[in-house]
Amino acid sequence: MKTGQVQDHFRKQVDNYRSLMTRIIPDYEVAQRLLIDLLPFDRTKKLRILDLGSGPGTLSELVLERYPQSEVLAFDLTQEMLDSAKFRLSRFGSRFRIFQGDYRNKELFGVGYDAILAGMTLHHLTDSERKTAFQDFFLALNPGGIFLSQDIVLDEDLFISEWHCNLWRTFMRDNGEDDSFWYKKHKEKDHPVSVERLKSWLTEAGFAHPACHWRFWNFSIISATKED
Ligand SMILES: C[S@@+](CC[C@H](N)C(=O)[O-])C[C@H]1O[C@@H](n2cnc3c(N)ncnc32)[C@H](O)[C@@H]1O
Repeated sequence: MKTGQVQDHFRKQVDNYRSLMTRIIPDYEVAQRLLIDLLPFDRTKKLRILDLGSGPGTLSELVLERYPQSEVLAFDLTQEMLDSAKFRLSRFGSRFRIFQGDYRNKELFGVGYDAILAGMTLHHLTDSERKTAFQDFFLALNPGGIFLSQDIVLDEDLFISEWHCNLWRTFMRDNGEDDSFWYKKHKEKDHPVSVERLKSWLTEAGFAHPACHWRFWNFSIISATKED
């Protein structure tokens, strides 16, 4: 493929990805922007940021634009996603790097980050993997650093959880998606937990001020801080 064709291919792939996410996740783009708004740093600061499960780099792009001195490492299992991120975000030069790997292996992403972002990805982990990951994220952050995650969650009250799932399925159906397909996939592969459990695991891992900033049915944005 010629450069122009490659560019079109990746642009289309990411456009398709974004458009799918907006059809299956309520307020997907609003939440992504909100997550970046929550970063508590001066915009002139030279930050080191890790975008875990980066996919095509939607959060990476927002953060690189917002913090012109920052450097971002996009980390993902899927090389194709990373390739599209690398190609699409080439305008950021050496400020943007990619790494292919499994974030259950902390040796791969290293330490020294001011922020760790995780967009719609940690629900892939089991409870014990998630607890270990929170400990690893704590170690990987600099003092004063922040962990931020946008993800699917469960309500502690099963009645409410079912209510949210029904609303979610209707949302997908109204957007022309096959909600049975997505719901089956979700039931088979995902391990969502409640915000309360996430907050307690973050505290156990050493984090301070675990918080939920945004909630839309069974979707949330949470944060936790590594104190100075
Ligand atoms: C739904 S996409 C989310 C992409 C992007 N962060 C966003 O907010 O739209 C989930 C991504 O997590 C990645 N992923 C899932 N499990 C992973 C793991 N154990 N290690 C690294 N990446 C993982 C997948 O490859 C996929 O690109």
